[in-house]
Amino acid sequence: MDMLKYKSIIEEGDLVIVYLDVRHMYPVTMKADNVFQSKYGALKHNDVIGQKFGSCVNCTRGWVYVLFPTPELWTITLPHRTQILYAADISLIIVQLDLKPGSIVCEAGTGSGSLSHALIRAIAPSGFLYTFDFHQQRTEVAEKEFLAHGLSSLVKVEHRDICSTGFGIEHLADAVILDLPNPWDAVPFVSKAFKLTGGRICTFSPCIEQVQRTCLALQECGFQDIVTTECLQRLYEVKKITQPVISFEISKEDSQVDLLVDGTSENIEAESPSLPKTRPWNKNTSKENETVSHWAAVPPLQTPG
Ligand SMILES: C[S@@+](CC[C@H](N)C(=O)[O-])C[C@H]1O[C@@H](n2cnc3c(N)ncnc32)[C@H](O)[C@@H]1O
Repeated sequence: MDMLKYKSIIEEGDLVIVYLDVRHMYPVTMKADNVFQSKYGALKHNDVIGQKFGSCVNCTRGWVYVLFPTPELWTITLPHRTQILYAADISLIIVQLDLKPGSIVCEAGTGSGSLSHALIRAIAPSGFLYTFDFHQQRTEVAEKEFLAHGLSSLVKVEHRDICSTGFGIEHLADAVILDLPNPWDAVPFVSKAFKLTGGRICTFSPCIEQVQRTCLALQECGFQDIVTTECLQRLYEVKKITQPVISFEISKEDSQVDLLVDGTSENIEAESPSLPKTRPWNKNTSKENETVSHWAAVPPLQTPG
């Protein structure tokens, strides 16, 4: 199937994301007479083939949605061979590298191909991705997946240790992305891969010590405008909130501050110690028993994990 060409009807051989709920989604390739088992019972592939992507299909003990495999859904459901990048980081990387249709990108390592799928969609139909990994089996599996997903014409997978031998391409790339443990060792090879007009590099590291070493290597190699960004995803819950109505009206007798004729104010309390030491805003100014409800986005009280 071609992941980059959305189509309506599911055919035999298509990859489908079977959606049970937000935490349970599975990539399934449709094959006549096959059956997919889930907590909602058996899903017959024959019942899915011929349906529209996005349809709700009955299983023996419930129902599921059958979704088109976008790079985002592939990232959530792909078989992990390594740690992977997720949508929040991927989208930041694509924006910061200024990737667009026609861009030429170098990526290392390929890993499980999560980032690669999103990169390919961003640079299609006229760009190209060179992706490298020094783990041979990972490159072979990634190559098969790109072929199965109809992406082969936009990507070349190569088995290569880029930290010791570089990228093997000269003055082609608009951007380089490194998601490997020691990006600083690859930095001296990057400028040779860039177009003569220059380019952008992103290195992804989970530890600040790795970031520091990479920044030093980038400075030593003459890179400019080096920035470090942390991308944190925060979930909010949409809740209905009920609050008492507060009255901001201040009655004449409540006021401890009088306005003088010339427009300046005078603190009567300061001059009249006999007056009670209250401020109008200390008083209970809520309108009794009156409340107002509205929808608001609030952080959850407990974050999981
Ligand atoms: C964390 S994974 C990359 C995950 C990938 N970004 C994804 O989203 O699926 C790191 C990969 O870098 C590869 N790697 C590490 N050092 C390398 C090197 N010097 N040259 C090429 N690949 C390397 C590893 O084999 C591993 O597959």
